[in-house]
Amino acid sequence: MVSPSFSTKLVFFACFVLFTFSHKLVTGESDKVELNLYYESLCPGCQSFIVDELVKVFDSDLDTITDVKLVPFGYAKVSNNLTVICQHGEEECKLNALEACVINTLPNPKSQYKFIRCVENNTDNWESSCLKGYGNEKAINDCYNSDLSKKLILGYAKQTSSLKPKHEFVPWVTINSKPLYTKLDDLVGQVCKAYKGKTPLPIDCSSAALSERKMSNVEFSYVDEIISH
Ligand SMILES: *[C@@H]1O[C@H](CO)[C@@H](O)[C@H](O)[C@H]1NC(C)=O
Ligand SMILES: *[C@@H]1O[C@H](CO)[C@@H](O)[C@H](O)[C@H]1NC(C)=O
Repeated sequence: MVSPSFSTKLVFFACFVLFTFSHKLVTGESDKVELNLYYESLCPGCQSFIVDELVKVFDSDLDTITDVKLVPFGYAKVSNNLTVICQHGEEECKLNALEACVINTLPNPKSQYKFIRCVENNTDNWESSCLKGYGNEKAINDCYNSDLSKKLILGYAKQTSSLKPKHEFVPWVTINSKPLYTKLDDLVGQVCKAYKGKTPLPIDCSSAALSERKMSNVEFSYVDEIISH
C-alpha cells in the first residue's frame, strides 16, 4: 500500500519536475538576442541596412537565436495636434505607416521582414512590386487606410523617444537594449557575441563563417538633415 504521504510527495515531486522543465522552456525562449532596429523608411542608410545587412540574420540560422523588432519612426516628429511630420516628407510618413501595418498584420518576423525588404528596395513602385505575393494584402491595406496605422506610428514614436541612450543617427540598432553605435557593419558578429543561450551557437557564428563574412559600409542619417516643411 502506498501511504498518502508518499503519494503526496510524489505529486509534489512531479510538480517540481514539471515546473523546472517548463521554466527552462520559457527562459530558453528569452535567451534569444533582442535586436531592435530604429529607422525611417526613406533614409538611404536605413534602406541599404535593411536590404543588404539585416538579411544576413534572416537568411541564415541566426534567426533561430534572434528576436528582431523593427521600429519605423526615426526622426519623425509628432506635433501637438498629433500630426506626424517625417524627415523625408509625406512619402516617408506613408511608407512608415505601411511598414507599421505590415508588422502588425503579418504573423512572424521573417515574413514581415521580407515584405519590408521589398518595400525598402522598391520605394518608388512598392505597390506593384510588393503588395501582392506576401499575403494578407487586404488586411494590410485596411490597416494602412484606417486610424490603426496612425495609432501604430504613435506607439513607435513613444518607443523611439524612450530610447536610453537616445539614438544619434539612423539606422540605430540595439542589441539586448544596448546601442551598436557604428558597429552596424558587423551585425552578424555582434549578434553571435551577444548570444548567451543554452543551445549551441548557430553555424553562422563559427569562426570560419565569421572570417569569411564580408563587412559592409553602412551610411548614417542624422537629424540635422531634416528638410524644413
Ligand atoms: C497640426 O499642426 C501642424 C504643425 O504643428 C500644422 O501644420 C497642421 O496644419 C495642424 N493640423 C491640424 C489638422 O490642425
Ligand atoms: C531590388 O530591386 C531591383 C530592381 O528594382 C532588383 O533587381 C533586385 O534584385 C532587388 N534586390 C533585392 C535584394 O530584392
